[in-house]
Amino acid sequence: MKVVTTIAELKQFVQQTKKEQKTIGLVPTMGYLHDGHLTLARTAKADNDVVIMSIFVNPTQFGPNEDFESYPRDLPRDTELAQSAGVDVIFAPSVEEMYPADGGIKLLVGRQATILCGASRPGHFDGVVQVVAKLFHLAEPMRAYFGQKDAQQVAIIETLVRDFNFPLEIKTIAIVREEDGLAKSSRNVYLSEQERAEAPAIFAALNIAKAHFLQTQNAQEAIALADKHITTNTAGRIDYLQLLSYPDLAAITAQTNKFLLAVAVYIGKTRLIDNLIFQIE
Ligand code: PAJ
Repeated sequence: MKVVTTIAELKQFVQQTKKEQKTIGLVPTMGYLHDGHLTLARTAKADNDVVIMSIFVNPTQFGPNEDFESYPRDLPRDTELAQSAGVDVIFAPSVEEMYPADGGIKLLVGRQATILCGASRPGHFDGVVQVVAKLFHLAEPMRAYFGQKDAQQVAIIETLVRDFNFPLEIKTIAIVREEDGLAKSSRNVYLSEQERAEAPAIFAALNIAKAHFLQTQNAQEAIALADKHITTNTAGRIDYLQLLSYPDLAAITAQTNKFLLAVAVYIGKTRLIDNLIFQIE
């Protein structure tokens, strides 16, 4: 496995791979890899000849008071883990390599960025699509892999591919969880012992709401039950807790049959997100 840090090296690898008529799967990440990332890599390896994983903590998707500086980074550890999951090349550029100092063009995400994480993190998804569009151009993948943990991100990237005609397919994987149900996240390392013990209440709350909604179709009651479960079992503060239609992420109606139940909670200073996607038959 190779680790490349420059666009020129990556391009050279991509050109050689294309010449050999091999297919490329791209797995974009911000590193500090866990089993969610590695499942993406293994899935990509099963579908493609070659897997490129990017590891880049992208400054343009962090707000001024967010955790860009403190975001966990460990490239030597990531390199070993990525290799074990079948990654062929890691692309780990510097900020200077990715963004020309005088760069002046940004992408702007529309309605899909006005809700959920987009509402509490203004500009976040503009930064995500900026870096993902660049990675698509650089890696020229046939398929790119994303986790449903970030369901809104997937929906927005699908719009990016459609609106800008990227010649590739988006593949998704289900949320990978710890044994107690907590969704795996690079940010889980921020949690204190007490916070880590409380955090599984988030997934439990989603399941309570889903069960109630499927039984009663009463979204308001279902959300109230989940809210109560989180506030009584954690010291956390709920950022949002919503039931929307999926994949269009709009208010539900009597006709909606596919749902996204999504939550963001501040446990101490750590913002954790989780969701369930489900259907009414
Ligand atoms: P990051 O948070 O590192 O996540 C990289 C990919 O791993 C995303 O597609 C995310 O949805 C997926 N992922 C994270 N935790 C997961 C879990 N528990 N189960 C399944 N998949 C999981 O998302 C980003 O980075 C960035 O926004 C990025 C797309 C790389 C652009 O900078």
